[in-house]
Amino acid sequence: MEVAKGQIIFHQGSQGDYALLIEKGQVEIFHTKSDDLETHLAVLGEGELFGEMALFDTNIRSAGARALSDCTLLVIRKDQLFERVSTSDKIVQLIIRILMRRLKQQNEAKSGVALPHITGSANDSTDAVEKLKYENQINEAFLHREFRIYHQPMVNLESQKIVGSEALIRWESPTKGLISPGAFVDILENSSMIVPVGYWIIEECFIHHKKLLEKHPGADFSISINVSGRQLLHYSFVQTLRELTEKHKVDPSRFKLEITERILVEGGLVIDILNQCHELGFHISLDDFGTGFSSLQYLARMPIDFIKIDRSFTMNVGKDVKTLAIVDSIIYLAKKLNIRIIAEGIETEAERQSMRDLGCEYGQGYLFSKPLEFSKFLALI
Ligand code: C2E
Ligand code: CMP
Ligand code: CA
Ligand code: CA
Repeated sequence: MEVAKGQIIFHQGSQGDYALLIEKGQVEIFHTKSDDLETHLAVLGEGELFGEMALFDTNIRSAGARALSDCTLLVIRKDQLFERVSTSDKIVQLIIRILMRRLKQQNEAKSGVALPHITGSANDSTDAVEKLKYENQINEAFLHREFRIYHQPMVNLESQKIVGSEALIRWESPTKGLISPGAFVDILENSSMIVPVGYWIIEECFIHHKKLLEKHPGADFSISINVSGRQLLHYSFVQTLRELTEKHKVDPSRFKLEITERILVEGGLVIDILNQCHELGFHISLDDFGTGFSSLQYLARMPIDFIKIDRSFTMNVGKDVKTLAIVDSIIYLAKKLNIRIIAEGIETEAERQSMRDLGCEYGQGYLFSKPLEFSKFLALI
């Protein structure tokens, strides 16, 4: 946030649910009495934090703040702070250090005794500030509707006909161009932003599905939606899913919720949520199968309809007999359990044939198509 010299940053008594870190410039903190008399409280400079008090109580600013020079300020929202349960988080450490430094200064001023230095490397601060800035950019990107849902066709491996797609998020940044989820999905998933973004993704998939049906009425086309652990475990996930289903009047059995093995270790609660999603009619697909903590027990205990065999298997199945044996067993077991199989990352005709010959029904991969923006995907089918 850029603030020009002399501008009021916030007024005393106003509502505020964010703190500000001074990246550049100087800020004056002042108190105003009922008779409009201003008392100067402090001048803060680079690396100092202000506006943090409102986060801890009523959200009412205890004083006003004014830019003494042109300032660059970094906003730290309340939710960004409170979702960080871990004190090893760099942003939490940065804030604790700033607050401790201020407390130390106050104590030294009162007692006249110098206290030990508060440690913490400059690198840590730089990393934390960069992380905060990036989080803010991602948040802004969502508010400015810069996220898009791309679709990668999923095909029948025998006929090579498109039977559905996997929805994959992209960030179309007006300044940085097209950004793949590898660069931002972890940050989304590790912050509470994944909850509203996750609901947006689901809603967007519902809207896209309706458009697909307008073009091909009655087609039994399905869309796979990636759902992260944090999203699934959000208290209103099932209810929101139900509401969105009703709002858009979509058939839940046309959607697969793709979860990874990682979240299955969370145990009972996850089984419960997955069962509820299943009862609503959604299919459950286990992503990246074979790369994580695959316990065969999960396959028996969870309502899993599909497993996706990870690309690391697909690419080696024709080259390595052990991989071949593993994939063969996975497919055998899945069939016994009435679970259907999707092979991921098929790049060559040889891979398609190997997976098909092993009895794998569906596949995705660059051989068929890269993920496409919706209009192109719609034109393809
Ligand atoms: P994923 O769910 O395993 O998605 C498959 C990734 O493999 C996608 O990368 C896709 O573009 C890529 N891929 C597909 N075919 C091929 C191929 O033939 N060869 C190779 N080398 N790669 C292929 P993408 O789109 O970059 O997504 C990366 C990851 O980000 C996804 O992995 C998923 O974990 C996450 N992600 C993407 N979209 C979403 C979303 O909407 N929500 C959530 N929670 N996560 C998402
Ligand atoms: P907040 O109450 O959110 O908004 C006003 C901010 O001014 C407050 O958080 C502190 O960051 C800062 N502030 C309030 N009183 C003082 C003070 N006496 N000295 C320095 N900073 C203060
Ligand atoms: Ca996936
Ligand atoms: Ca995958």
